[in-house]
Amino acid sequence: MNPNKMLWEKGDFTKIAASMRESGEALIKSLGIIPPLRALDLGCGDGTTALPLAVAGADVTGIDIASNLVEAGNRRAAAAGLNNLKFQEGDACNLEAVSDQTFDLTLSVFGAMFAPNPFDVAKEMVRVTKPGGRIVMGNWIPNDPTFVSQVLKISSAFTPPPPEGFVSPMLWGVDAQVIERFGQAGVPAEKISMVKDTFYFRPTGNSPAEFIQSFRHFYGPTMNAFEAAEKNGKVDELHNQLVEMANSQNQGASGATVIPATFLRVIVSL
Ligand SMILES: C[S@@+](CC[C@H](N)C(=O)[O-])C[C@H]1O[C@@H](n2cnc3c(N)ncnc32)[C@H](O)[C@@H]1O
Repeated sequence: MNPNKMLWEKGDFTKIAASMRESGEALIKSLGIIPPLRALDLGCGDGTTALPLAVAGADVTGIDIASNLVEAGNRRAAAAGLNNLKFQEGDACNLEAVSDQTFDLTLSVFGAMFAPNPFDVAKEMVRVTKPGGRIVMGNWIPNDPTFVSQVLKISSAFTPPPPEGFVSPMLWGVDAQVIERFGQAGVPAEKISMVKDTFYFRPTGNSPAEFIQSFRHFYGPTMNAFEAAEKNGKVDELHNQLVEMANSQNQGASGATVIPATFLRVIVSL
């Protein structure tokens, strides 16, 4: 079984995604969608960005490696009565089911960054996007002091080292790496722009500590960290580090939890 697929099918990302809807909608609003437009949401999860894209009038295909998230996305599309939105299983490293130059917009928000072969991912995103179209990525940034980068950093410190040859997903948050990857896919640097942006997590009714429990039980990378920590008696240490960090980053007023997270927004104009 593909370890990349196993990691994301292991938990239930819908439990985290529920806290991401508002920022997903805001991100789509900022893209100025003008239909008719065919859009791909790659590593779409259960549709945090795919659903508002379809509401904005785009004809949307969501592709994700995790079958449980594809099913969850299709359930959300049906519940919203959106027949211009479909989710299907696929791997960002090899979009074999997709023809060349299919989409006006290829979007991947914290999705394709987790695929293991970044050069293949860049090549595939360029291949399936029409000339004159655009690719938009949202990528977490290595060593950034804000929430998700810290969840991943703390989690990885408690997880056994990855196999040799493993490329950190976080490198998609480094400007020079983005330029090199799209460069190999034939895109010159002047067609790529990058800017830091902020995503807000709003886990309604959950304290920061309860939100960390969702990561512990439902978010593959953090689940793996807790499994390893259990084996060497470090569960409390891991839990305390995550909770302390989440508490310190919470900006919510009157008992609400609102946690910002900085990411790199990449825009490639083809
Ligand atoms: C952090 S979640 C983000 C989901 C969604 N984009 C969102 O913002 O809610 C990462 C997603 O990337 C998907 N993913 C990871 N590796 C992938 C790959 N190789 N191809 C397609 N999807 C992948 C996971 O299954 C998961 O749904």
